[in-house]
Amino acid sequence: MKNIKTQNKMMSGILFCTLITMLTFPIGGKLIINNYFPQDNPQIGGTNWVAPESADKLKNPLKGNAKATKEGKSLYTTYCVSCHGNKGEGNGVASASLTPKPKNLTAKQVKDQTDGAIYWKITTGKPPMISWQSTLSDKQRWSLVNYIRALGK
Ligand code: HEC
Repeated sequence: MKNIKTQNKMMSGILFCTLITMLTFPIGGKLIINNYFPQDNPQIGGTNWVAPESADKLKNPLKGNAKATKEGKSLYTTYCVSCHGNKGEGNGVASASLTPKPKNLTAKQVKDQTDGAIYWKITTGKPPMISWQSTLSDKQRWSLVNYIRALGK
């Protein structure tokens, strides 16, 4: 009699644990995937592209310069909208055919980067995005950093 009772307790314990795992994993799993493997998050796009540490030390010479931010907006409209979209969300008209998808520039993962890292990425490029070094001047690339900072606000 005692044995059956213990067995029942064990069985309901196991059932309870299974239930909890089943309930939490899809939610927890999704959170883990979106935060730790952002390249797998369709809302962010791109890959897990990391700028070298040296890029973080680059100082933005146009930080807080409203005129440059405005210039950045017009450059963005000319050169970046087709892929990154009007609001920077990575859904421009050309984005559908691209792999990986253009990055959502308003994502926390981009916001958390230094100005230097963003400048380095614009300068360096990564297929399917070209390097903008020969098309745009230093000043224009920093202006774009300012504008990217202003996106999604
Ligand atoms: C041909 C489409 C295309 C155009 C045009 C384009 N991009 Fe991109 N961009 C991409 C793609 C795709 C990625 C993701 C690359 C990756 O992560 O592998 C990307 C990534 C970026 C990133 C890095 C985000 C991050 O942290 O991972 C920045 C910053 C960026 N683009 C800025 C710009 C700016 C500024 C312009 C305009 C001067 C521009 N892009 C034009 C396709 C494009």
